[in-house]
Amino acid sequence: MASLPRVLSTVQELQAWRSSVEGANIAFVPTMGALHEGHAQLLHTIRHRCELSVLSIFVNPTQFAPHEDLDRYPKSFESDLILAATEGVDVVFAPSAQELYPMGYSTFVEESHLSTPFCGPYRLGHFRGVTTIVLKLLNLIRPQLALFGLKDAQQFFILKKMVLDLNLEVAVEGMETVRASDGLALSSRNLYLSQQERQLAPVIYQTLLQIKDSCLSHSMRPKLPYLEAVNQSLSNARQLLIQNGFTLQYLDCLKLPYFDPLDSNTTDKDPQIIAVAAILGKTRLIDNVIFSYNPTDCQK
Ligand code: PAF
Repeated sequence: MASLPRVLSTVQELQAWRSSVEGANIAFVPTMGALHEGHAQLLHTIRHRCELSVLSIFVNPTQFAPHEDLDRYPKSFESDLILAATEGVDVVFAPSAQELYPMGYSTFVEESHLSTPFCGPYRLGHFRGVTTIVLKLLNLIRPQLALFGLKDAQQFFILKKMVLDLNLEVAVEGMETVRASDGLALSSRNLYLSQQERQLAPVIYQTLLQIKDSCLSHSMRPKLPYLEAVNQSLSNARQLLIQNGFTLQYLDCLKLPYFDPLDSNTTDKDPQIIAVAAILGKTRLIDNVIFSYNPTDCQK
Protein backbone atom coordinates (compact mmCIF):
# COMPACT_ATOMS: atom_id res chain seq x y z
CA MET A 1 0.00 0.00 0.00
CA ALA A 2 1.10 3.60 -0.68
CA SER A 3 2.68 5.32 2.35
CA LEU A 4 0.45 7.54 4.45
CA PRO A 5 0.82 11.29 3.88
CA ARG A 6 2.49 13.48 6.45
CA VAL A 7 -0.21 14.86 8.76
CA LEU A 8 0.27 18.38 10.13
CA SER A 9 -2.16 19.82 12.62
CA THR A 10 -0.75 23.18 13.70
CA VAL A 11 -0.04 26.41 11.85
CA GLN A 12 3.53 26.29 13.15
CA GLU A 13 4.13 22.78 11.77
CA LEU A 14 2.65 23.78 8.43
CA GLN A 15 4.74 26.95 8.19
CA ALA A 16 7.92 25.00 9.06
CA TRP A 17 7.11 22.40 6.38
CA ARG A 18 6.30 25.15 3.83
CA SER A 19 9.65 26.89 4.43
CA SER A 20 11.44 23.56 3.95
CA VAL A 21 9.99 23.16 0.43
CA GLU A 22 10.55 26.72 -0.81
CA GLY A 23 10.69 26.75 -4.63
CA ALA A 24 8.63 23.57 -5.04
CA ASN A 25 5.56 23.51 -7.23
CA ILE A 26 2.59 22.86 -4.93
CA ALA A 27 -1.05 22.06 -5.68
CA PHE A 28 -3.81 22.11 -3.11
CA VAL A 29 -7.29 20.66 -2.59
CA PRO A 30 -9.21 22.10 0.38
CA THR A 31 -11.90 19.83 1.84
CA MET A 32 -14.02 19.30 4.93
CA GLY A 33 -13.20 15.57 4.94
CA ALA A 34 -15.71 12.71 4.52
CA LEU A 35 -13.89 12.20 1.25
CA HIS A 36 -15.57 10.48 -1.70
CA GLU A 37 -14.77 9.69 -5.32
CA GLY A 38 -15.20 13.37 -6.29
CA HIS A 39 -12.37 14.33 -3.91
CA ALA A 40 -10.32 11.35 -5.13
CA GLN A 41 -10.51 12.70 -8.68
CA LEU A 42 -9.43 16.18 -7.56
CA LEU A 43 -6.44 14.68 -5.73
CA HIS A 44 -5.63 12.44 -8.67
CA THR A 45 -5.62 15.47 -10.98
CA ILE A 46 -3.30 17.59 -8.83
CA ARG A 47 -0.90 14.66 -8.36
CA HIS A 48 -0.08 14.93 -12.05
CA ARG A 49 0.06 18.72 -12.11
CA CYS A 50 2.70 19.49 -9.48
CA GLU A 51 5.66 18.24 -7.45
CA LEU A 52 3.89 18.25 -4.08
CA SER A 53 0.22 17.88 -3.27
CA VAL A 54 -1.51 19.16 -0.15
CA LEU A 55 -4.97 18.23 1.10
CA SER A 56 -6.67 20.11 3.93
CA ILE A 57 -9.33 18.47 6.08
CA PHE A 58 -11.11 21.05 8.18
CA VAL A 59 -14.81 21.33 8.98
CA ASN A 60 -14.86 25.12 8.92
CA PRO A 61 -17.25 26.40 11.61
CA THR A 62 -17.51 29.93 10.17
CA GLN A 63 -19.30 28.71 7.02
CA PHE A 64 -22.14 27.06 8.98
CA ALA A 65 -25.10 29.08 10.22
CA PRO A 66 -26.26 28.23 13.77
CA HIS A 67 -29.16 26.03 12.51
CA GLU A 68 -26.98 24.09 10.03
CA ASP A 69 -25.27 20.69 10.25
CA LEU A 70 -21.86 21.59 11.75
CA ASP A 71 -22.29 19.14 14.64
CA ARG A 72 -23.48 16.25 12.53
CA TYR A 73 -21.22 16.87 9.49
CA PRO A 74 -19.86 13.40 8.58
CA LYS A 75 -16.32 12.60 9.72
CA SER A 76 -14.11 9.74 8.51
CA PHE A 77 -10.53 10.80 9.19
CA GLU A 78 -8.93 7.32 9.06
CA SER A 79 -10.46 6.38 5.71
CA ASP A 80 -9.76 9.92 4.39
CA LEU A 81 -6.07 9.33 5.10
CA ILE A 82 -6.13 6.03 3.23
CA LEU A 83 -7.77 7.70 0.24
CA ALA A 84 -5.16 10.48 0.42
CA ALA A 85 -2.37 7.87 0.49
CA THR A 86 -3.86 6.07 -2.51
CA GLU A 87 -3.90 9.34 -4.44
CA GLY A 88 -0.27 10.08 -3.52
CA VAL A 89 -0.97 13.15 -1.34
CA ASP A 90 2.22 14.41 0.30
CA VAL A 91 0.80 16.49 3.15
CA VAL A 92 -2.55 16.53 4.93
CA PHE A 93 -3.26 19.68 6.94
CA ALA A 94 -5.89 18.86 9.58
CA PRO A 95 -5.99 21.59 12.21
CA SER A 96 -8.47 22.04 15.05
CA ALA A 97 -10.99 24.89 14.97
CA GLN A 98 -9.09 26.48 17.87
CA GLU A 99 -5.88 26.44 15.79
CA LEU A 100 -7.35 28.46 12.92
CA TYR A 101 -9.77 30.58 14.94
CA PRO A 102 -8.09 31.16 18.29
CA MET A 103 -9.89 33.12 20.99
CA GLY A 104 -10.35 36.73 19.87
CA TYR A 105 -10.19 35.94 16.12
CA SER A 106 -11.92 38.85 14.36
CA THR A 107 -10.93 39.13 10.68
CA PHE A 108 -13.15 38.02 7.77
CA VAL A 109 -13.07 38.51 4.02
CA GLU A 110 -16.24 38.89 2.00
CA GLU A 111 -17.06 38.86 -1.71
CA SER A 112 -20.16 40.96 -2.22
CA HIS A 113 -21.59 40.39 -5.72
CA LEU A 114 -21.48 36.71 -6.65
CA SER A 115 -22.40 35.78 -3.07
CA THR A 116 -25.81 37.47 -3.42
CA PRO A 117 -27.95 35.11 -5.59
CA PHE A 118 -28.55 31.34 -5.38
CA CYS A 119 -27.40 30.06 -1.93
CA GLY A 120 -26.72 33.61 -0.67
CA PRO A 121 -30.09 34.33 0.98
CA TYR A 122 -30.49 30.74 2.26
CA ARG A 123 -27.04 30.43 3.86
CA LEU A 124 -26.38 33.82 5.41
CA GLY A 125 -22.67 34.27 6.15
CA HIS A 126 -21.76 31.00 4.43
CA PHE A 127 -19.63 32.44 1.63
CA ARG A 128 -17.95 34.87 4.02
CA GLY A 129 -16.86 31.80 6.00
CA VAL A 130 -15.68 30.04 2.84
CA THR A 131 -13.67 32.99 1.48
CA THR A 132 -12.13 33.58 4.91
CA ILE A 133 -10.98 30.00 5.42
CA VAL A 134 -9.79 29.53 1.84
CA LEU A 135 -7.79 32.77 2.00
CA LYS A 136 -6.20 31.62 5.27
CA LEU A 137 -5.35 28.22 3.78
CA LEU A 138 -3.94 29.77 0.60
CA ASN A 139 -1.78 32.11 2.70
CA LEU A 140 -0.45 29.21 4.75
CA ILE A 141 0.09 26.67 1.97
CA ARG A 142 1.04 29.14 -0.78
CA PRO A 143 0.19 26.74 -3.62
CA GLN A 144 0.54 27.59 -7.31
CA LEU A 145 -2.69 25.72 -8.04
CA ALA A 146 -5.89 25.19 -6.03
CA LEU A 147 -8.49 22.81 -7.42
CA PHE A 148 -12.22 22.78 -6.59
CA GLY A 149 -15.19 20.65 -7.62
CA LEU A 150 -17.77 22.42 -9.77
CA LYS A 151 -20.65 20.91 -7.82
CA ASP A 152 -20.15 23.94 -5.59
CA ALA A 153 -20.09 26.23 -8.63
CA GLN A 154 -21.09 29.37 -6.73
CA GLN A 155 -18.26 28.80 -4.27
CA PHE A 156 -15.86 28.22 -7.17
CA PHE A 157 -16.73 31.46 -9.03
CA ILE A 158 -16.65 33.46 -5.77
CA LEU A 159 -13.19 32.10 -4.95
CA LYS A 160 -11.94 32.89 -8.45
CA LYS A 161 -13.23 36.44 -7.99
CA MET A 162 -11.58 36.74 -4.58
CA VAL A 163 -8.25 35.64 -6.05
CA LEU A 164 -8.65 38.16 -8.88
CA ASP A 165 -9.77 41.03 -6.63
CA LEU A 166 -7.08 40.42 -3.99
CA ASN A 167 -4.27 39.83 -6.53
CA LEU A 168 -3.40 36.41 -5.17
CA GLU A 169 -0.80 34.49 -7.14
CA VAL A 170 -2.59 31.18 -7.38
CA ALA A 171 -4.44 29.51 -10.25
CA VAL A 172 -7.95 28.50 -9.19
CA GLU A 173 -9.37 25.76 -11.37
CA GLY A 174 -12.62 23.84 -11.33
CA MET A 175 -13.17 20.18 -12.09
CA GLU A 176 -16.35 18.80 -13.54
CA THR A 177 -18.81 17.37 -11.00
CA VAL A 178 -18.37 13.66 -10.36
CA ARG A 179 -21.70 11.82 -10.43
CA ALA A 180 -23.11 8.46 -9.43
CA SER A 181 -24.18 6.29 -12.38
CA ASP A 182 -27.78 7.60 -11.98
CA GLY A 183 -26.58 11.22 -12.24
CA LEU A 184 -26.68 12.29 -8.57
CA ALA A 185 -23.77 14.65 -7.86
CA LEU A 186 -21.44 13.09 -5.29
CA SER A 187 -21.49 14.94 -1.98
CA SER A 188 -20.53 14.09 1.60
CA ARG A 189 -24.08 15.11 2.57
CA ASN A 190 -25.61 12.31 0.41
CA LEU A 191 -24.88 10.11 3.44
CA TYR A 192 -27.85 11.78 5.14
CA LEU A 193 -30.33 10.47 2.52
CA SER A 194 -32.63 7.55 3.35
CA GLN A 195 -32.81 4.74 0.79
CA GLN A 196 -36.05 6.10 -0.62
CA GLU A 197 -34.71 9.67 -0.81
CA ARG A 198 -31.54 8.42 -2.49
CA GLN A 199 -33.69 6.87 -5.24
CA LEU A 200 -35.54 10.11 -5.82
CA ALA A 201 -32.51 12.44 -5.65
CA PRO A 202 -31.31 11.97 -9.29
CA VAL A 203 -34.49 13.77 -10.46
CA ILE A 204 -32.61 16.98 -9.67
CA TYR A 205 -29.92 16.39 -12.28
CA GLN A 206 -32.43 15.03 -14.82
CA THR A 207 -34.41 18.25 -14.41
CA LEU A 208 -31.32 20.42 -14.88
CA LEU A 209 -30.43 18.52 -18.06
CA GLN A 210 -33.94 19.02 -19.45
CA ILE A 211 -33.74 22.78 -18.90
CA LYS A 212 -30.26 22.92 -20.40
CA ASP A 213 -31.42 20.96 -23.48
CA SER A 214 -34.37 23.26 -23.98
CA CYS A 215 -32.07 26.33 -23.65
CA LEU A 216 -29.57 24.94 -26.13
CA SER A 217 -32.20 23.88 -28.67
CA HIS A 218 -33.99 27.24 -28.46
CA SER A 219 -32.53 28.66 -31.67
CA MET A 220 -33.81 25.66 -33.65
CA ARG A 221 -37.44 26.23 -32.60
CA PRO A 222 -37.71 29.83 -31.32
CA LYS A 223 -41.43 29.95 -30.43
CA LEU A 224 -40.73 32.50 -27.70
CA PRO A 225 -37.87 34.98 -27.14
CA TYR A 226 -34.98 33.23 -25.32
CA LEU A 227 -35.55 34.91 -21.96
CA GLU A 228 -39.24 33.96 -21.92
CA ALA A 229 -38.51 30.40 -23.05
CA VAL A 230 -35.95 29.96 -20.24
CA ASN A 231 -38.34 31.39 -17.65
CA GLN A 232 -41.09 29.06 -18.83
CA SER A 233 -38.86 26.02 -18.69
CA LEU A 234 -37.61 27.02 -15.20
CA SER A 235 -41.16 27.46 -14.01
CA ASN A 236 -42.22 24.00 -15.35
CA ALA A 237 -39.16 22.42 -13.75
CA ARG A 238 -39.86 24.08 -10.37
CA GLN A 239 -43.36 22.60 -10.41
CA LEU A 240 -42.05 19.16 -11.35
CA LEU A 241 -39.54 19.15 -8.46
CA ILE A 242 -42.20 20.26 -5.98
CA GLN A 243 -44.59 17.57 -7.26
CA ASN A 244 -41.84 15.00 -6.68
CA GLY A 245 -41.63 15.96 -3.00
CA PHE A 246 -38.65 18.35 -3.01
CA THR A 247 -38.82 21.58 -1.02
CA LEU A 248 -37.33 24.02 -3.48
CA GLN A 249 -35.09 26.86 -2.31
CA TYR A 250 -34.14 28.08 -5.78
CA LEU A 251 -33.90 26.97 -9.38
CA ASP A 252 -32.50 29.77 -11.51
CA CYS A 253 -30.46 30.52 -14.59
CA LEU A 254 -27.87 33.33 -14.50
CA LYS A 255 -25.07 34.56 -16.75
CA LEU A 256 -21.47 33.57 -16.15
CA PRO A 257 -18.99 34.38 -14.81
CA TYR A 258 -20.56 37.08 -12.59
CA PHE A 259 -24.07 35.67 -12.02
CA ASP A 260 -25.88 38.59 -13.66
CA PRO A 261 -29.55 38.04 -14.62
CA LEU A 262 -30.42 37.06 -18.19
CA ASP A 263 -31.79 39.96 -20.23
CA SER A 264 -33.56 40.41 -23.55
CA ASN A 265 -30.22 40.25 -25.42
CA THR A 266 -29.17 36.93 -23.89
CA THR A 267 -29.03 33.93 -26.21
CA ASP A 268 -28.02 30.29 -25.78
CA LYS A 269 -24.52 31.28 -26.97
CA ASP A 270 -23.92 33.30 -23.79
CA PRO A 271 -22.24 31.51 -20.88
CA GLN A 272 -24.85 30.51 -18.33
CA ILE A 273 -25.38 28.43 -15.21
CA ILE A 274 -28.59 26.76 -14.10
CA ALA A 275 -28.35 26.07 -10.38
CA VAL A 276 -30.69 24.45 -7.90
CA ALA A 277 -30.97 23.91 -4.15
CA ALA A 278 -33.70 21.55 -2.96
CA ILE A 279 -34.41 19.85 0.32
CA LEU A 280 -35.31 16.18 0.42
CA GLY A 281 -36.34 15.02 3.90
CA LYS A 282 -33.63 16.58 6.08
CA THR A 283 -31.00 16.83 3.36
CA ARG A 284 -30.23 19.95 1.37
CA LEU A 285 -29.01 19.06 -2.13
CA ILE A 286 -27.39 21.44 -4.61
CA ASP A 287 -26.44 20.91 -8.21
CA ASN A 288 -25.87 22.89 -11.40
CA VAL A 289 -25.17 22.69 -15.10
CA ILE A 290 -22.99 25.16 -16.97
CA PHE A 291 -23.19 25.79 -20.70
CA SER A 292 -21.72 27.94 -23.47
CA TYR A 293 -18.86 28.66 -21.06
CA ASN A 294 -15.28 28.39 -22.24
CA PRO A 295 -14.21 25.27 -20.32
CA THR A 296 -10.58 26.38 -20.18
CA ASP A 297 -11.75 29.19 -17.90
CA CYS A 298 -12.99 26.82 -15.24
CA GLN A 299 -11.42 23.41 -15.78
CA LYS A 300 -8.50 21.79 -17.51
O1 PAF B 1 -16.14 22.87 -0.50
C1 PAF B 1 -15.79 22.66 0.68
O2 PAF B 1 -15.64 21.52 1.11
C2 PAF B 1 -15.56 23.84 1.62
O3 PAF B 1 -16.45 24.86 1.38
C3 PAF B 1 -14.09 24.35 1.57
C4 PAF B 1 -13.74 24.92 0.19
C5 PAF B 1 -13.15 23.22 1.92
C6 PAF B 1 -13.91 25.48 2.59
O4 PAF B 1 -14.16 25.05 3.87
